[in-house]
Amino acid sequence: EEPVRKKNRNKKRKRDEPETNGAAQEKSSEAPEPVQVEKVDPAPEKPEETPRANGAPSKPKPKHKSKSLTDTKTNFTSLRDKAKALLETRRKLPIFGNVDEIRNYLREQDVMLLVGETGSGKSTQIPQFLVDEFWCRPVPTQITRNGKTEKKQIGGCIAITQPRRVAAISLARRVAEEMGTPLGNHSPASKVGYSVRFDTSTSPSTRVKFLTEGMLLQEMLHDPFLTKYSAIVVDEVHERGINVDLVLGFLRNLVASKFEGRGGVPLKVVVMSATADMESLTGFFQDGYKSLEPAPKSIENGVDADRMDKSDSKEIAACHIKGRQFPVKTIYSPQPVHDFVDAALKVIFQIHCKEPMPGDILVFLTGQETVEALEHLVNEYAMGMDPSLPKIQVLPLFAALPQAAQQRVFMPAPPRTRKVVLSTNIAETSVTVSGVRYVVDCGKAKVKQFRTRLGLDSLLVKPISKSAAIQRKGRAGREAPGQCFRLYTEKDYLALDETNTPEILRCDLSQALLNMKARGVDDIVGFPFLTRPPREALEKALLQLLNIEALGETGQISDVGQQIAKLPLTPTLGRVLLAAAENGPECLIDVIDIISCLSVENIFLNTTSEEKKEAAEAARRDLYRREGDHLTMLATVRVYAVEHSDRKAWAERHLVSHRAMQSVMDVRKQLRMQCRQAKLISGELSNSVSSHDPSPFLILQSFLAGFATNTARLVPDGSYRTIVGNQTVAIHPSSVLFGKKVEAIMYNEFVFTNRSYARGVSAVQMDWVGEALAGKE
Ligand code: CDP
Repeated sequence: EEPVRKKNRNKKRKRDEPETNGAAQEKSSEAPEPVQVEKVDPAPEKPEETPRANGAPSKPKPKHKSKSLTDTKTNFTSLRDKAKALLETRRKLPIFGNVDEIRNYLREQDVMLLVGETGSGKSTQIPQFLVDEFWCRPVPTQITRNGKTEKKQIGGCIAITQPRRVAAISLARRVAEEMGTPLGNHSPASKVGYSVRFDTSTSPSTRVKFLTEGMLLQEMLHDPFLTKYSAIVVDEVHERGINVDLVLGFLRNLVASKFEGRGGVPLKVVVMSATADMESLTGFFQDGYKSLEPAPKSIENGVDADRMDKSDSKEIAACHIKGRQFPVKTIYSPQPVHDFVDAALKVIFQIHCKEPMPGDILVFLTGQETVEALEHLVNEYAMGMDPSLPKIQVLPLFAALPQAAQQRVFMPAPPRTRKVVLSTNIAETSVTVSGVRYVVDCGKAKVKQFRTRLGLDSLLVKPISKSAAIQRKGRAGREAPGQCFRLYTEKDYLALDETNTPEILRCDLSQALLNMKARGVDDIVGFPFLTRPPREALEKALLQLLNIEALGETGQISDVGQQIAKLPLTPTLGRVLLAAAENGPECLIDVIDIISCLSVENIFLNTTSEEKKEAAEAARRDLYRREGDHLTMLATVRVYAVEHSDRKAWAERHLVSHRAMQSVMDVRKQLRMQCRQAKLISGELSNSVSSHDPSPFLILQSFLAGFATNTARLVPDGSYRTIVGNQTVAIHPSSVLFGKKVEAIMYNEFVFTNRSYARGVSAVQMDWVGEALAGKE
């Protein structure tokens, strides 16, 4: 089996090489899914200055990448040709029927809601429709604030927010192609860029910027009135992640303030969705207008006086874009399915062997584990397939897949090959994979859920909503009639909730709250939430921020809180980083290495079978540390970082995920740079190879500054009980401490499958925990 696999991999590499210009280093299938990255998406302090991460978004397309970037003349010509060729396809998009309506409306009004099926052209076309409008030019303005008058150019750019990094990057790449401009920092003349956590690619002439919601929130910390922008397009609001709710709240306040902080220069707000409940959004913005106080008089500017007189005529319209959807036949499972991975495997081969209709297969699964498990099975079965059948190309797709691997999903399958894309719910609405005519839907998704008793978020596999099931099905009918295989019964479908629960109702709010506090929102209760979170959840979050000293006694943001808010990390990890900095530069460098590992789901390859487990134990023996997973991660990064000959081979030998380690190295580089900018370490150290002996005590003590409440002690019956809450918790089998008995443990996250597990575990002493908890409640 192994030789065949190797051959396949080599084949893939050959096929990919010319298309990725060497940027793709990873072709293996062991993909980690950095769950945290997807949810928590804050940004570097100065996004514009963040250099591109290693191996990150590379050349727009094979055609133009072959020339050097200095050869701009040829480049631009080929870019323009490509854009011209794309124009015809673009014109066929349903949204082209609404272009005049949209432009005319926004010439008069400031807020517009757009509803349209996925694939109707909203994300790619709207910025292009608007970028040449008269109101999208920078306006020289005088702003009077705190008695001081300042001249400033307001506007000129358009931001389009996305809930996911994958979508932000792939849309930027596509729109750059359509506009015939190089992408991001490839050229100072580039008009389209993107900005996602740990990876920003813009140029001085960027006019259209795709960015994650978290990134926009981060930009607002430095520029609360978004003075760079003429329009903010909030895309995919139906996903209702917590960050989009915050963005909407801030934008509503900005609109309702009559753009006072922008000297009255309007900021157009376009809210887009595939399914959202537009009525509540209309009401939300209308309430903003209604809440208007009489116009503030402090603004000395001609533009605003005009506008303020017109405030009575402000309205909000919802524009519906007619979708282009072919019929999709639904096939339900006749009886309930217990193992959806197994069921999906059968359906994939049933389609491949029996369905005459060509077309790729898109399978919706729950997360990394199920994607990997099915990837392995499909590859294995495909080897024994009748050679007269077309080949199968299995492609995983999830949030933080490295760039190069992501791009493969968007490329057409080679001749006589059927693509089988195994995706998390990313492909539901965020990205369009062309060529798909079959959808296989497991009916479940992994969601973050706040568990009040434990006081922390955990990931749970839950049934999706009806609206998500409809979106998934719709993916099969984008280009031609299709089929959707639901791995659940019709009765189960009918019992699903109508829509997804907004994240703000079900997750930890500490990051959101810190963000608001850092933006000067003191009255959290008075903030315009599209959906108001429960009071207890807000209180829990406030407590958590108090515990890590991000807030002072009276609820005001502390210096520590301000510093944490600027870091691209959750408040807890931010606190850990600052504590490490207090413990000295060597400790900080080590903690950065560990935090980088925590940004991916697992740096080690999954070892499910006993046999594999033993092999892994042997291969990784020299990396394992008795102190636990944190120190083991550090040891792994250190060895990997100095491995220069062949990192991939090293990773394979140690059953380490090379793909995960590439992401880890990207994050590490960015975090080091952030710490340098925040003056937490010197430039020299931030580029160095670590040679000191790490101090487990200082490292774990730094982690306890943030994770004191994620601890459990050993009780006489041999199990662990959480120190806060007294819940039983077991060490996850993936931990190096699995099966070990130590006085107390500290863990990075709590996962709940059939029982409660602590993941990312290290041994700590009770008195360290006591010290960290002292004075905290
Ligand atoms: O936002 P919405 O889902 O309405 O559509 P879109 O993302 O603007 O996509 C419109 C079309 O652009 C898709 O049907 C694809 O053909 C194309 N597209 C692409 O080729 N590559 C992307 N990364 C995004 C879109």
